[in-house]
Amino acid sequence: SLTLKLMPDAETAAAAVARQIAELVATRPDAVLGLATGGTMEPVYAHLVRAHREGLSFARVRTVNLDEYMGLPPDHPNSYHSYMARHFLDHVDIPHEQSFIPRGDQNAEASARDYAALLDRIGPVDLQLLGVGHNGHIAFNEPGTSIDAPTRVVRLSDETRRANRRFFAEGESVPSEAVTMGTAQILSARSLLTLAVGEAKAAALSAALDGPVSPDCPASYLRLHHSCTIFTDEAAGFNL
Ligand code: GLP
Repeated sequence: SLTLKLMPDAETAAAAVARQIAELVATRPDAVLGLATGGTMEPVYAHLVRAHREGLSFARVRTVNLDEYMGLPPDHPNSYHSYMARHFLDHVDIPHEQSFIPRGDQNAEASARDYAALLDRIGPVDLQLLGVGHNGHIAFNEPGTSIDAPTRVVRLSDETRRANRRFFAEGESVPSEAVTMGTAQILSARSLLTLAVGEAKAAALSAALDGPVSPDCPASYLRLHHSCTIFTDEAAGFNL
């Protein structure tokens, strides 16, 4: 079932998402968290770091991230390894060996295969955090992705590369490939927690929720999950 939570603004929505994650970790200290990157998630991590300073321990949590750019070593400022360290992992008490992100600096096929095997070993994700791309992508599952797609190497659409351009330095090119968790893996999580805010996400959200369930909008697959909550704000959710 899908629950839509329309919050007055982006900040309130991010705080509510962080609260749900913190509550899960408080009641299930050894939870497996599926984590996401992107501008949308920065305030969520800021709230979780604050919760940690106020006493919430992540010491037994395991985390798996959705995706990574191919061709970026972990210490590249725009890798999702760096993003996670900067916004979350370096500021909480999760031991390094309990956090997993696909490698962007290996042979792409090998990196995808290793990550798929790791996800199998770790077992079900208790809570998967998700953003939504401008074109309705989830993780880096672009339009055209079937519902049962495996964890794999993908080519990024021009639209996605354009949307993420803002994070890269001038003159630097946005990678054209990534390793992403597949839609099958994402949908196998026990619960999904989605955050999509701001007017740039309005079209993707209405396609996801009011259009057909279709590969044209991978976020529409969220409607088929047994426990998905979508937090949005007025700017993204006004026409829902
Ligand atoms: C990126 C990520 C997604 C993220 C989305 C939205 O490309 N791979 O996991 O949800 O695009 O990003 P943002 O929050 O910056 O809009």
